[in-house]
Amino acid sequence: MRVSMASCNKPNSASTEANNRDKVVLAYSGGLDTSVAIRWLQDTYNVDVIAIAINVGQPPSKDDIVARALRNGAIKADFIDVTDEFVSDYVWPSLKANALYQNVYPLSTAIARPLIAKKLVEIARAEGAKYIAHGCTAKGNDQVRFDVGIVSQDPNLSIIAPMREWVTTREKEIEYAKENGIEIIVKKESPYSRDENLWGSSCECGILEDPWEEPPADVWENTVDPEKAPDTPTYIEIEFEEGVPVSLNGEKMGGVELIEKLDKIAGENGVGRIDHVEDRLVGIKSRETYECPAAVTLIKAHQALEAMTLARDTIEFKRGIEQKFCQLAYDGLWFGGLMEPIQAFIDETQRYVSGTVRVKLYKGNATVVGRKSPYSMYDAGLSTYAEGDSFDHNSATGFIYVWGLPGRTAAKSHAVKKK
Ligand code: ARG
Repeated sequence: MRVSMASCNKPNSASTEANNRDKVVLAYSGGLDTSVAIRWLQDTYNVDVIAIAINVGQPPSKDDIVARALRNGAIKADFIDVTDEFVSDYVWPSLKANALYQNVYPLSTAIARPLIAKKLVEIARAEGAKYIAHGCTAKGNDQVRFDVGIVSQDPNLSIIAPMREWVTTREKEIEYAKENGIEIIVKKESPYSRDENLWGSSCECGILEDPWEEPPADVWENTVDPEKAPDTPTYIEIEFEEGVPVSLNGEKMGGVELIEKLDKIAGENGVGRIDHVEDRLVGIKSRETYECPAAVTLIKAHQALEAMTLARDTIEFKRGIEQKFCQLAYDGLWFGGLMEPIQAFIDETQRYVSGTVRVKLYKGNATVVGRKSPYSMYDAGLSTYAEGDSFDHNSATGFIYVWGLPGRTAAKSHAVKKK
């Protein structure tokens, strides 16, 4: 894990600290909501605010958000990079589970929340903070994932969600910032609400709230329109070791680099766009779009390798376990009791999921076109219809007799009933 703990104390924070106020650790993004939240928390709860920006692979910001948090009144501010831990402990387990919520959404936002919750709890304990605050509203899944993630790790911490308590509008927040001398960066107003990390990005609101409307071009930020993607396909090779991708096009690389590179190649070919009406945990159906080029490609490749290296009953049984994994991750139960045994089962299935998969990327599609593995269960001698057939044809007759016996017996005994 790369963690830059270059925390800096606000120069004039001594007086506030001397007051011995309770402390709150705020999950801080540098955006409008969490910037005004610093002051709101101080005023409403009479607390000292420690602002923590947690990087799970979202695009870097040129703005020094740590310095700005201090100028806006935080007594401490940090930026911590947990991208490596995100990949090893959250993304790879999801890939091993072929995790697609409702068969389409790779859970990119959902699996980052428990890690952020974990870091906030660690910092709250180290700082002796009584509260953790986050900027989620009352209508989404993320509030549930944060709140449940936090209390599952430390039931003594209390949670404050300013945007849940303080029902406000963007205009009112800007007004509040002006009145209170809060430094904010007002970006061009976007109709969309977005979230982004290394595993993918999500977009909702605006015109997307009409599920009949095709997502307009400005929804998509990280993928090329499939219609404008190259006219010739791009072929890639992904090598897996025990279910985890370890090389791209023959080059060994770490997880973060591999996902970043694949995101670019697949995104240039228009792969990874998802348009979905999704069931939120809070009972609301919502229309969202996602861009997850690397996730979509890797899950397809991983499934193809499993098809070659796992027995049929394992694949079928695992499918049910995968659904459960998705539900736990989506519903904010990452730190609940069931996740660990579920992951232990999935890990066990991955022992022979090693090999290489070739994928063709072409105008929005990622298609598996080749696979090989030292542990392949594909036996050419058994499957061939050409020379070299090793299958015992005579055994088929006896097998089918026994296999069909229950049906044969039932048909005979039912035939005696008069119509
Ligand atoms: N619907 C997705 C989920 O619940 C994405 C949520 C995106 N979050 C956001 N604050 N815009 O995982």
